[in-house]
Amino acid sequence: MKILVTGGTGYIGSHTVVELFNAGYEVVIVDDLSNSDIKILEQIEKITGKKPDFVKLDLCNEKEVNDFAAQHKDISGIIHFAAFKAVGESVQEPLKYYRNNFYSLINLLTAYNSKVKLVFSSSCTVYGQPDVLPVTEQAAVKKAESPYGNTKQIAEEILQETCAVKAELEVIVLRYFNPVGAHHTALIGELPNGIPQNLVPFITQSAIGKRNSITVYGDDYNTPDGSAIRDYIHVVDLAKAHVAAIKRLESKLGDNYEVFNIGTGKGSSVLEIINAFEQSTGEKLKYTIGKRREGDIEQTFGDVAKANKILGWKAELDINEMMNSAWKWEKYLKDNPF
Ligand code: NAD
Ligand code: WQD
Repeated sequence: MKILVTGGTGYIGSHTVVELFNAGYEVVIVDDLSNSDIKILEQIEKITGKKPDFVKLDLCNEKEVNDFAAQHKDISGIIHFAAFKAVGESVQEPLKYYRNNFYSLINLLTAYNSKVKLVFSSSCTVYGQPDVLPVTEQAAVKKAESPYGNTKQIAEEILQETCAVKAELEVIVLRYFNPVGAHHTALIGELPNGIPQNLVPFITQSAIGKRNSITVYGDDYNTPDGSAIRDYIHVVDLAKAHVAAIKRLESKLGDNYEVFNIGTGKGSSVLEIINAFEQSTGEKLKYTIGKRREGDIEQTFGDVAKANKILGWKAELDINEMMNSAWKWEKYLKDNPF
């Protein structure tokens, strides 16, 4: 069984390729390397002993995607990670985000004539600030806070509406909570572009001396310690959820459009994460309390019962493993810059 992994040299994609190999799948990666490095292929080979097939291609290029599909008729499923994901940049350059995140999806669906099994990377951002926590898949989708978030909401609609009229299109949408951490070998991990906007890469870069102190964005939220709460999930657990989703599609048991939350089901505050990093690694962090960040929500964490039951998947790695692996990767990067 050969799986096409778009965005497979990226953060979540590379970890998923490793888990696909571990589960016995063949893999072909398509990536334009706009936010990843070709060296990741060697790193995957070091971990698994297998080098994935790789095609450098911009999925916005309709002709190239069609040519690829014509040459790769043996694909039994697609995991579509390729997208731009920086929330702040999407506010500054909405067209860049709408163009990339929609054209890539539409070109893929068209090239495979909507006859394909596809796992789509969505985000808990579609829920905004949920009214009820933990948030279930039935919760209302709120007006997106950013063009990036809007690309995920509309992409879900594109897939749902197409599945409604094309029975041969079988889709699983995974709504990720906050992916963090790295592979335990520290050979792959997140490669933030410029100053990290996300909490954990900022923490590790601060600990290694690349950044100054961390600013905690707000300690006046209605949470036990006043800082905002998220459902952090280890990227390796998240990667395994994609293998479970592919197996679910192969089983033909579900409807041809299904949505799953992928998180741990447990919320952690910013201050708890800082504390967990210090406890797990023995490193001391410098931080100050700042204002709330515009567009941030107070708290979210997922109800993951549906994924547990139907996908037979459950997050296994705890906050300590998330922090230790993220730190090991940061130290690896210092000695082995990309
Ligand atoms: P990433 O940027 O590390 O990986 C995305 C990959 O897609 C990169 O390698 C990039 O080069 C490639 N890519 C982008 N546009 C492309 C195009 N037009 N053609 C070919 N390749 C292209 O991001 P990630 O963190 O691994 O995220 C993967 C997916 O998960 C994205 O769809 C993202 O929106 C979604 N997601 C991420 C998070 C998160 O916090 N990281 C949370 C929820 C959802
Ligand atoms: C986590 C918490 C910050 C940095 C974003 C996207 C979302 C999804 C995941 C893709 C928040 C706080 C952060 C810092 C801080 N991506 N923080 N100081 O905002 O939950 O989600 O990434 O789909 O769409 O919006 O993640 O890691 O940026 O922030 O206090 O320097 O850490 O305010 O409460 P977020 P994050």
